[in-house]
Amino acid sequence: MKVLSVVGARPEFVQLSPIQWALRGAGDEHIVVHTGQHYEENMSAAFFSDLNLPDPDTNLGIGSGPPGAQTGSMMAAIEDILPEYDPDWVLVYGDTNSTIAATLAAVKSHYRVGHIEAGLRSFNRRMPEEHNRILTDHASDVLFAPTGRAVEQLRVEGLENRTVAVGDVMVDALLSIREDLEGVDVSFTNSLPDGSGYIVSTIHRAENTDDREHLDALLKAIGQLSVPVLLLVHPRLRQRAEEFGLVLDQGAIRAQPAVLYTDVIRLLVGSAGLITDSGGLQKQAYLLGVPCTTVRSETEWPETLEGQWNVLVDDPSRLENAVLRESPSPVTSAPFGDGDASNRIVDSLRQWEDDR
Ligand code: UD1
Repeated sequence: MKVLSVVGARPEFVQLSPIQWALRGAGDEHIVVHTGQHYEENMSAAFFSDLNLPDPDTNLGIGSGPPGAQTGSMMAAIEDILPEYDPDWVLVYGDTNSTIAATLAAVKSHYRVGHIEAGLRSFNRRMPEEHNRILTDHASDVLFAPTGRAVEQLRVEGLENRTVAVGDVMVDALLSIREDLEGVDVSFTNSLPDGSGYIVSTIHRAENTDDREHLDALLKAIGQLSVPVLLLVHPRLRQRAEEFGLVLDQGAIRAQPAVLYTDVIRLLVGSAGLITDSGGLQKQAYLLGVPCTTVRSETEWPETLEGQWNVLVDDPSRLENAVLRESPSPVTSAPFGDGDASNRIVDSLRQWEDDR
């Protein structure tokens, strides 16, 4: 079986890694096409080495741009390249502009598409990711759902026949590195006062970064916390803060450039909490038993809200109370699966192949 994965942004590189191992383990051919949506060294190439992934077979080098132009350029480039590899399956991941571009290019050229992380919804139609995930689900041939809730959502939308419950590939990725984390020295925390706890933070969603007043209030609220906060700065946040003349390094905040996947996990393991607007990190914190405060009004991962492991805060004036809430209560459920999602996905692709 020949499988072609299209990826472009950081979370997709993480989701790609267990799929790469599973396909390699099963002796299948795996082509990786990188759209170039993320292109800076520490947003892209360094992730591939961090995750022990081979370099992509092709990098389309599309880069940043307004959503229509970016997505359209990706579609045209992917459409050109698909016949060259002529795969049995095209795999797409999550909800980025690379995801929807690859899906549309592939289905229009009559290639079969499998969507990994299908069935998630924030029900916020202002989010680009919400457009991407809904359209990708409805255009794909097979939908790999990470949770029971995602399976139910796909059923409600009439997509039951194409849905396969597999669990979450992010769990596979996390379990594979967890044993490497034992006893690791978390060197990023050297800049912090001795013996203090710290909180990790990432902010990159347009709803938080693109309005000056809101970003100012959010940075002030984080800066006023009594615990040091390591703010891992995404390029969009860096650019908006510069444009608006806002200082990132204020009060409790220690700002530093975004770090790689394994380093984020290391930082989380040693932290007292997380403040984020990232979908993937909310879930990783939940899996690692780290309390998370999500600076958004909704989440695609409502499972993480159980026991107050994750709390939603869209008003910066409520941040401090949320961060300082009582310790979450233990939960026994495992809503994201058992860490074997990638093997189930590969088995399922082969099954569809055989049934053709
Ligand atoms: C994208 C995804 C988002 C995901 C995030 C992970 C979409 C719609 N959103 O958001 O779901 O959570 O990736 O990081 O696809 N930039 C750089 N260097 C880079 C990449 C981006 O400077 O290597 C800057 C550019 O100014 C760009 C901005 O960051 O305009 C935003 O990048 P973009 O790829 O459009 O979306 P993300 O915000 O990263």
